[in-house]
Amino acid sequence: MVRVGILGATGYTGVELIRILSNHEDVQIKYLSSQNFNGKKIEDVYHSLKGFCDAELHELKIDDIVENCDVVFAALPSGYAMNIAEKLCSSGVKLIDLGADFRFDDFNMYKEWYGSDKNDYGSVSRVYGLPEIHRQEIKKAMVVGNPGCYPTSVILGLAPALKSGMIESHIIVDSKSGISGAGHSPKLGNMYAECNESIKPYNVANHRHIPEIEQELSKLNFEDTKVVFTPHLTPMTRGILSTMYCKLKKDISIENLHDIYSQFYKDEYFVKVLNIGEYPSTKSVYSSNFCHIGLEIDKRSNTLIVMSSIDNLVKGASGQAVQNMNIMFGIDENKGLKMVPVFP
Ligand SMILES: NC(=O)c1ccc[n+]([C@@H]2O[C@H](COP(=O)([O-])OP(=O)(O)OC[C@H]3O[C@@H](n4cnc5c(N)ncnc54)[C@H](OP(=O)(O)O)[C@@H]3O)[C@@H](O)[C@H]2O)c1
Repeated sequence: MVRVGILGATGYTGVELIRILSNHEDVQIKYLSSQNFNGKKIEDVYHSLKGFCDAELHELKIDDIVENCDVVFAALPSGYAMNIAEKLCSSGVKLIDLGADFRFDDFNMYKEWYGSDKNDYGSVSRVYGLPEIHRQEIKKAMVVGNPGCYPTSVILGLAPALKSGMIESHIIVDSKSGISGAGHSPKLGNMYAECNESIKPYNVANHRHIPEIEQELSKLNFEDTKVVFTPHLTPMTRGILSTMYCKLKKDISIENLHDIYSQFYKDEYFVKVLNIGEYPSTKSVYSSNFCHIGLEIDKRSNTLIVMSSIDNLVKGASGQAVQNMNIMFGIDENKGLKMVPVFP
């Protein structure tokens, strides 16, 4: 049995981790932390967990984590996991951080976009936790930087095209996200009356996911790759739909393109390349760890259009984190994650 701790267990990704892990036969939830709900049982904070998890919430104490856990999921705001990573690693406890602390190859990139009073990662070596791209490194990792939700949808959507060298290295990405992407703390712009029946762009050309997307796309492309990224807040609870526009270097048929994508993902349980003419939706992946990818070519402008959908809280966060845990502990990669999307 893998003994698991979840830090930030009362947040949206924390609760989603508990939901998924409650159905995972190889796991025991041993430690839950919260800032504001200490002493309460998680099932009394979130009634959806009644009968599934009656563990108590604790103040984050590193010695208790080390004593009780083999792996820790940090579902905390960015900047916190960094403070505990060295101690966890030296004690043999693995860390999967759902925040941004360990997503970057270059610490300066993290510092520039997120701010930090630190100057480097210290002795902590880390792996970018997108299993479909970095599976072999994840197997050996002590610390995994779980990808952001938008980056997961974008990188999975573009990886086959970039690897095959068919597109230019300037890409336009238009993404839509459900409101749970912003977490459970109340914010004026996320209130029902403010966002229902409305769709609005935010952080245009300066969203924090840009450097992470560019880092991974550049590695796949073997050259510096830039994205123009516009995220939108949409009035739905879960889901991300990303549409990517890429200039094709030469003519390619939709059949040939579809073959390249199908071949690239042929062994991937969680990535489904849709049939030609089919387009993804957030509804079709709701509450699941799947990523659906649709493809189209605009012949008039010689543009490849890739559409990719995920559930931000599952493949975009907690499901992917459990997928990473499975890989790190030599468990079947899809264990605990075979849930059928909820439809309608
Ligand atoms: N939401 C998404 O779709 C999504 C997707 C991918 C990645 N992420 C990332 O995952 C992380 C968690 O996101 P979330 O949406 O679950 O956030 P959230 O709903 O706002 O929850 C944050 C959690 O962290 C705890 N916390 C906050 N400040 C703390 C502090 N100073 N010390 C200890 N605990 C503290 C909160 O505890 P209390 O509320 O109990 O006080 C809560 O349990 C973030 O880094 C986020 O960027 C989120």
